[in-house]
Amino acid sequence: MKGVILAGGHGTRLYPITLGVSKQMLSVHDKPLIYYPLSTLLLAGVTDIQIISSPEDVGSFRRLLGDGSDLGISLSYAEQDKPRGVADAFRVAARHIGNDPVALILGDNLFHGAGFSTMLHDHARDIDGCVLFGYPVREPERYGVATTDGRGRLLGLEEKPSAPRSDLAVTGLYFYDNEVLDIARDLAPSERGELEITDVNRVYLARGKARLVELGRGFVWLDTGTHDALTAAAQYVQLMERRQNIRIACVEEIAWRMGLISEEDCYRLGRRLEKSPYGQYLMSVVRHSRRADGLE
Ligand code: G1P
Repeated sequence: MKGVILAGGHGTRLYPITLGVSKQMLSVHDKPLIYYPLSTLLLAGVTDIQIISSPEDVGSFRRLLGDGSDLGISLSYAEQDKPRGVADAFRVAARHIGNDPVALILGDNLFHGAGFSTMLHDHARDIDGCVLFGYPVREPERYGVATTDGRGRLLGLEEKPSAPRSDLAVTGLYFYDNEVLDIARDLAPSERGELEITDVNRVYLARGKARLVELGRGFVWLDTGTHDALTAAAQYVQLMERRQNIRIACVEEIAWRMGLISEEDCYRLGRRLEKSPYGQYLMSVVRHSRRADGLE
């Protein structure tokens, strides 16, 4: 399965911060925002990923993440000359996706929860149609909204409805079979002139091929579209990391634990950042594991 991270857009709701820097480069406590969606794809077992960004910003992502070889993955970059809506990602990344299924994640979505990796692997297998992830929120009108029957079967999808019929937001993580390329190619822009991801999902729904997985209590999905949301996300990460002495979305640690890079590679990546607590953490998790294995 190929991966796509959409890290475009002007981030206008975060002005003036995003006048000079891409939104997905902003810090969420101890790491850039894009680490979070990247870690989600890694946890789903997706290791061939294209990052889509504006021509001005694509260079900074390349500087940050390179070709992915440090993480044992493949990263490529594509430019989107102007934002045309989420579904434009499939047009831009068509060549990268080729004949494969694809996982698309929006560059500003943060997921965290126990058992997430197993769950993602389960749903990424044998995709026939699309898999969406729903999450109950207080302000569903800010998102794509799903309605389901009593047994969780998907009945309807609406994009930012003024009177939402449910509180179930559709998160910015989507799994599709390869049909999505044709659907996106034939898609007409919405009234606001955008290629809406909800319209893509509706095509699947009409074909009886859309599935919604509900992320329930105890699971965290945060978006970072406003100043308050960005601060709240940083506070959440800070709280969890301090309390449990873990690092959320530590892509190097994930790559190591998934067997994409060796213990030595992970340690070396940490040492490169050793002046920061992030780097020190990476070195310490490797040392810990070596001690547990009786190697130190
Ligand atoms: C997009 C999608 C929306 C989805 C949201 C998740 O909205 O159009 O359906 O719920 O991402 O973050 P945007 O954030 O681009 O306005």
